Amino acid sequence: MINVYQIKSEEPKTPFAPVYNYYICTADISTLIDFNDIRNVILKKEKEIIKKYDTGLNDAYTELGHNSLTSRFEHYNIFDWPEMFNLKSAVKSIHDMFIDYLKLQTKPVYINGWANVMRKGEQIKTHIHNVDETCYLGGHICVACDQSSTFYINPVNTINDPEIFEIENKVGQITLFSNCIPHYTSKHSGDSERITMAFDMNIAKKGNSNVLL
Ligand SMILES: [Fe+2]
Repeated sequence: MINVYQIKSEEPKTPFAPVYNYYICTADISTLIDFNDIRNVILKKEKEIIKKYDTGLNDAYTELGHNSLTSRFEHYNIFDWPEMFNLKSAVKSIHDMFIDYLKLQTKPVYINGWANVMRKGEQIKTHIHNVDETCYLGGHICVACDQSSTFYINPVNTINDPEIFEIENKVGQITLFSNCIPHYTSKHSGDSERITMAFDMNIAKKGNSNVLL
């Protein structure tokens, strides 16, 4: 049910060669969740949240700007919403499958999520979530989309000829990735909203995060 991609360095032949091992995991949860319902909840809450929070905004280098739901991501945790109860369980299941696949054990895990609502012509610019020693997993869930992709850049090859992994967005697709992988999206060209959820997983409580498992 999960697809796992590994971005791994070759065996280093000198002490100075970069050594790395990053992961991207995808899964389809469209049969478990009604994403039309999720879409409607996010569009309704978007108006309320944009009105409620007008200071202390931070679009985290996405360039979606002051009027976006994204720039309010530090003010709420989407997994606190009762409407997201089943989706949170699905995220937990995919996380557990991925961790089992890697034969790892990590508990507890905390999660903090938000939504991105993009309109025609908008694009999430390259940004990165966490590069410190606590870096764990980030994630994306596609709620509504129309021919768009998310691009993940190998963190040690970002400058001249970057190594880029394109993942086409499909409604109901969840992606988990090493949370230090820079990423961006294609420009949204559809007439209806492109809606995604994004989240950070951490091994300690941060900000508005709550326990996933
Ligand atoms: Fe992101």
